[in-house]
This record gives sequence, structure tokens and C-alpha cells, in this order.
Amino acid sequence: MKEIRVALVGLGGRGVYGWLPILQSLRGYRVVAICDRIEALHERALLRLRDPREVRAYVRYEDVLADPDVDAVALTVRCREQGAMAAQALEAGKHVHCEVPAAHSIEDCWRIVLAQERSGKVYQLAEQTRYWGFVEAWRKLVAEGRLGHITFCEGQYFHYYVGQNFQDPRTGRFFHPGELAAHPEAQPTWLNEMPPIHYLPHELSPLLKILDDRVVQVVAMSTRAPSYAHPELNVPDMQVALMKTEKDAILRLAVSFAQPHPEANYHWYHVMGTKGALEWKRAERDLPRMWLADHEMHDMAEVDWRYERADAPAEARGTGHGDADYYVHAAFRDAVLYGKPLEFDVYRAMDTAAPAILAAESIARGSAPLAVPDFRPSAARPKGQAPAPAGRGE
Ligand SMILES: NC(=O)c1ccc[n+]([C@@H]2O[C@H](COP(=O)([O-])OP(=O)(O)OC[C@H]3O[C@@H](n4cnc5c(N)ncnc54)[C@H](O)[C@@H]3O)[C@@H](O)[C@H]2O)c1
Repeated sequence: MKEIRVALVGLGGRGVYGWLPILQSLRGYRVVAICDRIEALHERALLRLRDPREVRAYVRYEDVLADPDVDAVALTVRCREQGAMAAQALEAGKHVHCEVPAAHSIEDCWRIVLAQERSGKVYQLAEQTRYWGFVEAWRKLVAEGRLGHITFCEGQYFHYYVGQNFQDPRTGRFFHPGELAAHPEAQPTWLNEMPPIHYLPHELSPLLKILDDRVVQVVAMSTRAPSYAHPELNVPDMQVALMKTEKDAILRLAVSFAQPHPEANYHWYHVMGTKGALEWKRAERDLPRMWLADHEMHDMAEVDWRYERADAPAEARGTGHGDADYYVHAAFRDAVLYGKPLEFDVYRAMDTAAPAILAAESIARGSAPLAVPDFRPSAARPKGQAPAPAGRGE
């Protein structure tokens, strides 16, 4: 195979303005199909295609999966079933490159793992923040033991993002909460139902990479729904989880979409060990900080770590999210075309999804502590075999 014939499924902002330009400019990809269940959204994607005559436009996902000329599905949907859709594509013999989060139920996490193991197809979760420059620097510091035993990490995603909770299902137009009274056609979207804490891939993926670890236990709390900031929204303003890792670190993770937050710097991270601490910047004009206990440092020192990597190749520049978007598309291409093993494999992807799903489940069960399953094959669960009910984590 010289190039991957790819179908882009989900023609919202992320699919059309984020993925389509990269899939058309990066060597190794050819877009052969587009799909969205809202037909009115097809046109803006077709307008951005290099040669729309070569591209088939589908409304039904099943038709994409039945198309023998599609090698891989690029999934940029936002819906409760996005995990099941990834599994369906693997079951249909397609490679899958999909947007975050990987899934919204533990059942779908297992379905993806089993379909990937049984099909041997490439599954990649396109979580890109793990490629950021400071994440690589922090990973090295932790791996070298410069911070001692890691005891405490924090990660949060606070993004004031209330413009996509209501949509006209015919035209695809989104409505801000303030517009609802004048637009009876506006219907709630999955964002108006989704527990915010499900959206932890951009926190768990880099933190678990830095720690080389996985989460084993979760407990979480939520403010009430509807939102205090926007009572029209059926979502809580704040959800917070505590997680314990296999190597014995405690993570505090928080997500909020409904309450106002400064436009930039949505993410914040903190890693603390027995011999030092690392902290991401608090505001755009700020700088990240580091403190090492045995280096004669009286206070945290500022370090000019950035999202952008100092070693980024030219083709990464400007691809989005501090150049990080490039890396997921390059890794998927190299895995499909050249068989290069994925560093962020299906198991590490599920390590970012399952704790978040179980955090919401913990909230639903009155903040009960829940165990997180390990999706890797073992003596008790050979590759391709479904886990025994006790090991599923549902
Ligand atoms: N990695 C990142 O930095 C990043 C940034 C933004 C969004 N995202 C992710 O990208 C995805 C898309 O985000 P968006 O803002 O474009 O969302 P969106 O809601 O604007 O677009 C998603 C599209 O998928 C379509 N869709 C949903 N289910 C479908 C189905 N079964 N068949 C066909 N089409 C279907 C919807 O009609 C919609 O047009 C989400 O999963 C989101 O979490 C990731």
C-alpha cells in the first residue's frame, strides 16, 4: 500500500478545519470519502477537497464501512457511540484513527480492544498533547529519577465551551444558550448530556506518559446539574476525580466546560515527587516552573518549556495545538503503511478512557471508589478473548 485511502467521518469543526487540511497535505493519505449524518454539512467539506469528484459523500456510517475502497476511517464524531463506531470499523476490517475521547462506556472500551486484537488492524486514538515539548521534557526528568518517587500529580481542563450544547439537526447550526428562546429547532447535543469528567484524554494521556504508569482506582465528585453559570445547560460546572496509579501516585483531575475561564491556557499540569516538582504556567504571560530538592534551589525556577517541541520537523509547524496534531497523523500513517509499532497503542488509549468513564460512574454511585481494569492481555485473558465478568470493570 502506497497511500491510505481514508474516509473522514464527522464533518464538524474538528473534522473539516482540523483534520481535512492535514489529511490532504501529509504524504501517505488520500481522502476518498466523507460522511456526516447531517447532510447539510457535506458541502463545506466538499468545497475544501482538492478534487471532490474523486470523493464519495455518505450520510450513513454503514455505507462507509461497506465501501471496499476505504482502508481507514478517520473518526471525528462527537457522540455517545463514538467508541462503538471505532469498534464497528475495526470489525469491518478498517484501520481506525479517531478523535478523543476513545469511548463513553467500559463496554465500548472492551469492544475496541477485542476488535483490534482480533482484526490486527491499526487503532490509534489521536490524542496529541502527549507529544508536546514540555511533556517530553518532564517524561525524561521523571524517567531519570530527578524528581524521586512521584507522589502527586494534577491535571485540569477548564474550557468555557457552551456554544455546542444545542444544534439544529437539519442544518447543523449550533446555538449558544442565550439564543435558545428564539430557536425552538435547537436540540440538545451529546455535550449537553456527557459527564464533563469523560473528557480527560488530554490530561491522562500526557500525565501517564510522563509517569509511565496506569490508573488502578478512581473516586470522583461533581457539582450539581444544571449548571450554575448557565442554567439552560444540563451539565455540572465542575467535576473532580482522585485517581491512584499502579506505581503509587495520586492524581487530582478536574474538568469544566460550562463556567467562564480565560480563553487561552485551558490545560494545567503539576507533577510532584519526593525530590522535586514541575508545574505548568498558570496564565499565558506566565512561565512553567521547576524545583529540585538536591540542587541548592530555594524556590521554584522559571523554565521556558512550551507546547511546541524544539525538535519539530518543518511539516509539523502550524498543524495545530502547538504543532502536536502532526504527530498523531504521522504515527498512524507509519503504522498502517510501514508497520511501525504505535507508542500510543490501544491499551494506552484505553488507559486514558476507562478511568474517566469510571469517574463519572463513581459520581453516579455517590462517590464510590472503583477499580480500573487493565485491558492488556494476560494469562487470565489471552489476546482476542473476552474478559471474565469479574475483570471487565463494569
Ligand atoms: N484533539 C483535540 O484537540 C480536539 C479538539 C476538538 C475536538 N475534538 C474531538 O473531535 C470530535 C469532533 O469535534 P467537533 O467539535 O467537530 O464536533 P461536532 O459536533 O461539531 O462535529 C461532529 C460531527 O459528527 C457527526 N456525527 C455524529 N455521529 C455521527 C454518526 N453516527 N454518523 C455520521 N456522522 C456523525 C455530527 O453530525 C457532527 O456534524 C469530538 O470527538 C471532539 O471530542 C478533539
